[in-house]
Amino acid sequence: MTKLAKLKKLRIKTNFRKQKQAAIPPPPPKQIPRGLKIIEKYPLYEPFAHVAIGQNPKTGEYKYILDELQLDPLERNIYNRVLAILLAEIESPKEEVLDPRKFFAEEAKKVVDKYRISLGWLPDVSWYKILYHAERDLVGYGRIDPLMRDPNIEDISCDGVNKPVYIWHRKYESIETNLEFETDEELDNMVVKLVHMAGKHVSSAFPIVDASLPGKHRLAVCYRRELTPFGTAFSIRKFREDPYSIIDLINLGTFSEEMAAYFWLCLENRASIMVLGGTAAGKTTALNALACLIKPGSKIITIEDTAELNLPHENWISLIARQSYGLGGSGVGEVTLFDLVKTSMRHRPDVLIVGEVRGQEAYVLFQSLATGHGGMCTMHAEDLNTAVKRLTQKPMDIAPAYIPLMKIVLSIQRVHLTKGREKKAGRRVLNINEVADYEDYKCVFKWDPVKDEYSPEFNTSTMLPTISERVGVSKKELLAEIERRKDVLHWMRERNIRSYKDVAAIIAEYYARPERIYEKVLAGEEVKAIAVS
Ligand SMILES: Nc1ncnc2c1ncn2[C@@H]1O[C@H](COP(=O)(O)OP(=O)(O)O)[C@@H](O)[C@H]1O
Ligand SMILES: [Mg+2]
Repeated sequence: MTKLAKLKKLRIKTNFRKQKQAAIPPPPPKQIPRGLKIIEKYPLYEPFAHVAIGQNPKTGEYKYILDELQLDPLERNIYNRVLAILLAEIESPKEEVLDPRKFFAEEAKKVVDKYRISLGWLPDVSWYKILYHAERDLVGYGRIDPLMRDPNIEDISCDGVNKPVYIWHRKYESIETNLEFETDEELDNMVVKLVHMAGKHVSSAFPIVDASLPGKHRLAVCYRRELTPFGTAFSIRKFREDPYSIIDLINLGTFSEEMAAYFWLCLENRASIMVLGGTAAGKTTALNALACLIKPGSKIITIEDTAELNLPHENWISLIARQSYGLGGSGVGEVTLFDLVKTSMRHRPDVLIVGEVRGQEAYVLFQSLATGHGGMCTMHAEDLNTAVKRLTQKPMDIAPAYIPLMKIVLSIQRVHLTKGREKKAGRRVLNINEVADYEDYKCVFKWDPVKDEYSPEFNTSTMLPTISERVGVSKKELLAEIERRKDVLHWMRERNIRSYKDVAAIIAEYYARPERIYEKVLAGEEVKAIAVS
């Protein structure tokens, strides 16, 4: 029998009840609650971690049941000794390592091979389990490590001790897991470790941390009971290595091909764009996908609190704000978004992108728009009116006359879609407005929730006449250009060209030689010929 097959067999044998008997810390996952109907199962990390999605037939509620191979008491005992040896023996790498987990796995195997006999006899499968747990706990994310491996999970949050960890699942939305931290010590230790992984410090004196974990996952912490009576709370917003491209967002129904083509044309002509929406509506994701439509070669500066944006452009500077490292709110060493936006002006960007505007940085961003730079940002607001109200009040304090400098504003929202009898969660751009003047908005796209479609309205557009004047082509020709770009996007979708790098390559080629790409598109089977007037 191969080692993998042995492990799989062992996995089948390991049932939840057996794990409960081995009540040695850390606690094993809770037994599958009775009466839950398992509706889906998938592996997270073969053969060590799997997940089952259970549903309560009465309430319809879902539960995420993590099933991870646990160590039995004998294995746990040896594991503790192995951990001590590993900590003493593994030396820091001499050169920078790209993949710390791989480095650790290799080194740990060497150490274990050296001490294996003196530690006592265990079957191979037990050693695999011990090494898995050591890697998970020393260089991984500890008990939430399997959740970090699940691509379906967008957010992980823990509200305190003895409360289930919640996740935001792509398919089932916000659901409870069977993972729980049972003691303050266990939870605090894990959070301190996560914060250290992010290269930051957390303590009772500095209980609030906002940090970026390796892999760019965003971590927010409220430590101990200083601020949260239930004990340490944390949230992780997972970062997608492979960000959603505009093609992905069209496939998800968030954008239509025509909307994307419209943005592409506007961005080529330096239009400024603002994305509005609530928490986790998909603002940053939309901003990132739109920014990929900016002409390659443009100088782009992005400014964020935590690094989330990921652009294909060569000429891109990413600036990240820094928290103070001084004591007691002294602000020593702090570099704010405001500082960064101010300094970025000296680098003369073609487009300045601010991840999320909240304060004075908005004022500087609008000033930079006034001096002819391109700009993009997101803002936490439900709709355009609320956003403008906040922009014109303190601390942003932007003069009403400056508001129309932000040319296009889109609102994005998490919505529930009903397809036949099925209910599904999705993200939709509710509307796209052009700002003609202060309090004068022209809606160019609107989402129809019944048909789940977008209807364009270019008659009142102010962007198209502006572009028409700027580049000296008629509005009719611009509309034809939108149609052509729409075909190019459609052609990419048909060919499953979707990764943000591949999409960027086609977009770059279209900027350089539009006719060549368009000829390819026209040559495609299902693409209708467009009269190029
Ligand atoms: N259009 C979309 N369709 C499906 N999932 C999305 C979409 N936009 C964003 N997401 C997911 O939602 C989560 C939150 O997105 P994000 O853009 O960070 O939201 P915000 O910036 O509004 O807080 C991320 O995990 C992201 O992968
Ligand atoms: Mg965001």
